[in-house]
Amino acid sequence: MRKRTIRPAKQLTGGIEPPGDKSISHRYAMIAALAEGASELRHFAAAADCHSTLDCMKALGATVKVDKDTVRIAGRGLRGLKGTRRALDAGNSGTTMRLLAGILAGQEFTSQLTGDASLQKRPMKRIVGPLRQMGADIRARDDNFAPLEIRGGRLHGIDFKMPMASAQVKSAVLLAGLFAEGETIVTEPARTRDHTELALEEFGAPIEKSGKTIRIQGLAAGNGTAKLQSRSLDIPGDLSSAVFFIAAASLFPDSNLLIHNVGLNPTRTAILDLFVSMGASFQMLSVRSAHGEIVGDLAVKGASLKGGVIEGQQIPLVIDELPMLAALGPYTEQGIEIRDAAELRVKESDRIAALAENLRRMGATVEERPDGLRVEGRAAGKLRGAEIEPHGDHRIAMAFAVAALGANEDLERIAER
Ligand code: S3P
Repeated sequence: MRKRTIRPAKQLTGGIEPPGDKSISHRYAMIAALAEGASELRHFAAAADCHSTLDCMKALGATVKVDKDTVRIAGRGLRGLKGTRRALDAGNSGTTMRLLAGILAGQEFTSQLTGDASLQKRPMKRIVGPLRQMGADIRARDDNFAPLEIRGGRLHGIDFKMPMASAQVKSAVLLAGLFAEGETIVTEPARTRDHTELALEEFGAPIEKSGKTIRIQGLAAGNGTAKLQSRSLDIPGDLSSAVFFIAAASLFPDSNLLIHNVGLNPTRTAILDLFVSMGASFQMLSVRSAHGEIVGDLAVKGASLKGGVIEGQQIPLVIDELPMLAALGPYTEQGIEIRDAAELRVKESDRIAALAENLRRMGATVEERPDGLRVEGRAAGKLRGAEIEPHGDHRIAMAFAVAALGANEDLERIAER
């Protein structure tokens, strides 16, 4: 356990470049390992989660070379991955486990997939169900939790109407669809991040999108010549990381912050629309496209935030930013209310409980609900310094590091793993 002390700030000024986008880094690494030849991925995410993905792809036979934030992967081709007796370790990363399960379901070998204590508590039935429908034989602890044993084999395409809005579930099925006989169709109940679709297209997979329905043609089953091409790609900065800095800069009237090279994929920018509706002050500059993704710079100034209610179809589009929004609640005029977000309880921690607990430690007025929480605004009083318990969850630690910048006392303790 490492502890960090966060002292109140007066403003945020200067320039930063966030690390590479985590979601895109995972996908490029997995798909590059399935492509023919050498791919170069620049500005690859620094996060341990994405390095868990690299380690898994290495264990499956891909050659992976990391040089600072450039990753070079010599792909094995669609049928070239090799089984390994040792369990593949996804660490703390739900994205690694769920997306890789889709790929492993289509391999002609058996794999074990495990993760840390937090990941072993997160639900896997959501991917096990559809992958079984495609023909995979998967064993899971209590039929829902890692470790998973995936006996891959011949898969067939399915027409899958997703019962929940989850990019990870969509991606697991689409990646399995690469190896399936025929066409795999996935329909989402609400839009989620589309990096898998864009990445598959970028590497040359036959994938089509129309509204909330995505179709992919199986490449590996019975089609000897089909392949994915290696690529040389720049990964945009992570908007979800940039959000902590947008929030921090917004707290102080004299802030003037330039955030360079941020991913602005429309399935991720709902958080920026929300910030605008709450009165945040920022401008998008030099918007450009990069391999199907959109990138730009953000100039952020201080603002008086209004707050508001976040609910319904907005939730999957801002799921990773909800901890930051909730922790901003006490700095807003109307407070922040989050509804329809029970999914937050099965992330790296129970984020609803962790937010309520730590906001109360800092003196906020909070009502915790099964599917969200209501955090009272400025009228309920200023936050004070406190010892924060992030429950090993990076987004909880970061949200409270930002909240601490505006707090009353000059000592905040953020306990980190
Ligand atoms: C992710 C999807 C989201 C998100 C996670 C990353 C992805 O999870 O919370 O941090 O890269 O696909 P769900 O798909 O479970 O909502």
